[in-house]
Order: sequence, then C-alpha cells, then structure tokens
Amino acid sequence: MGRLLTRLIDAQAAWARPLGDFNHRWLGAVLRPLGPVKDLLHGRWLGHPLHAASTDIPIGILLLVIVFDLLGQPAAAGVALVVGIVAMALSALSGSADYVDTDGLARIRATVHATLMVAALVLYIVSLAMRAGLPAEGPADRTVPVLLSVVAFVVLNAGAYVGGDVVYALGNMVDRHAFRGPGTKWIRLELPPDAELAEGTPVRARLGINTLVLVRVGESIHALHETCAHAGGPLSQGIVADGCIECPWHGSRFRLSDGRAMKGPTVYDQPRYEIRRGEDGWEARRVAD
Ligand code: FES
Repeated sequence: MGRLLTRLIDAQAAWARPLGDFNHRWLGAVLRPLGPVKDLLHGRWLGHPLHAASTDIPIGILLLVIVFDLLGQPAAAGVALVVGIVAMALSALSGSADYVDTDGLARIRATVHATLMVAALVLYIVSLAMRAGLPAEGPADRTVPVLLSVVAFVVLNAGAYVGGDVVYALGNMVDRHAFRGPGTKWIRLELPPDAELAEGTPVRARLGINTLVLVRVGESIHALHETCAHAGGPLSQGIVADGCIECPWHGSRFRLSDGRAMKGPTVYDQPRYEIRRGEDGWEARRVAD
C-alpha cells in the first residue's frame, strides 16, 4: 500500500517540480531576509522542528468540526472551524520556512503536501463562508458546508500523509546525527598530508568512520562533525565567521567552540570533538553533550 501511494505521490513530479522550484524562489526571497523570523519558524529556539510540533493542532481541532456537526452543534462547529483555519495558517508559516531549505525529491513531495494543504484550507474557508451565510434563526440546510468540511478533512489528512513521508521516508529536517553514538574512545585523526591548519580555514579530517572539520582559532583547534546536522552539507566547504562555521548548502551556523546551532535552518547542534596530541599524532574523541 505504502509503495503504491509513494508511486502516486511521485507521479505528480511533472507539475510539482516546477511549482516547487517557483515556490522556492519567491518564498526564499520573502523569508531569507527575515533571518530571525525564519529561525523562529524553523524552531531553533525549541531545538525541534516547529512545523512537526504544530501540525497536529489544526488536525485535532478540525476533527472537532466533524464531531460537532454530527452532534448537531453548528455554533461549536463554526468556532472550531475558525480556530482550525487560524491554526492551519500558522502551521503553514513554519512549514514554509522549512520548505525554503528543502531540495530535490523532498521538495517535490513537499510541494504535493503543500498543495493538498492549501486545497484543504480553501475548502474550509468556503465551508466557513457558507456557514456564515446561513440564517441564524430557524431551520437551515447545512448539507453542503458540512460535506465540504468532511471533504476538506480527507484532503487535510492526505496532505499530512505526504508531509509525514517527507520527514520519515526522506529524512527532511531530521537530525543527521540521530544515530551517532557518543563514543568516548580516543581515535587517531587522519589529516590530509599537506594540511597546514591555517587560522580560520576549515580542514577535513578522518576519524575512523567519521569525517570531521577542524578549524584553528589562535592556539585552539576546534573540531566538529563535518556532516551538517540539517541535511548533510559538507561543513569543510563552509566559511568561518564570528566564531562559527556556516554550511555552504543552506547557511546553518554552528559555534565552533561547542557545536551549538546559532542560525537555522538547522534546529540541531553539531557533534563536537576534543583533540589531543597522542604518541602517533593527533587523536580525537566525541564530547558527550
Ligand atoms: S545542509 Fe542545510 S544548512 Fe547544512
């Protein structure tokens, strides 16, 4: 079943790819200059993607619309509908910020997700407008607005399914170091043969199965995992500024001294390592957080 649905979602690429690229351009132009607001919407302050935490709220509220309609409580259904629409719009804001830094297949599926959500939102707004137009007194035929909100709920859940796929199947906004253990063993660090560790210049180094990025600042050598926690960008190709290293892919910034995420889209910190001079050269080990 899942495979069939995935094929169905990916069959939308013909329209979802160009629409996603278009959305990526205009949303990026709007949100990127609003750095702190964009960070807020990603959820860096929460240490967790805000969109993932906020999407269940409108779904729960909008389920209540159906429940109240079934119970013959049109006033309560109307209130739930208004609150659900507002919650959907707010959740869409956080999703838009993540969408700006989503690439490739994830962007295509995220576009299908966003399109379904917008369609559901429009259906809900039409349902609300029709309910508002019904006479307050006496019997009124609510069949069409009620049916519209039921259809909208089905579309909403289809959109949620695709959104879940973007996260669970493609790992969008998932911590790239989620499965990396906090090893405490010192391991020999393999530096490139001609590595100079020039001040403020990132250098890629191997540490067993891991790859680190080293940056010398004065007498200190800072070491972070080279794979960006956001989506796997190569930090050794990033730039060093203000005590941070900036990922070349979407501009996440990590503080060199402790790997702390200082700018999104990442909401996760970067694993950091300590370094020492061993008998056979440089050694490193992960610092437990
Ligand atoms: S991969 Fe997205 S900011 Fe690094």
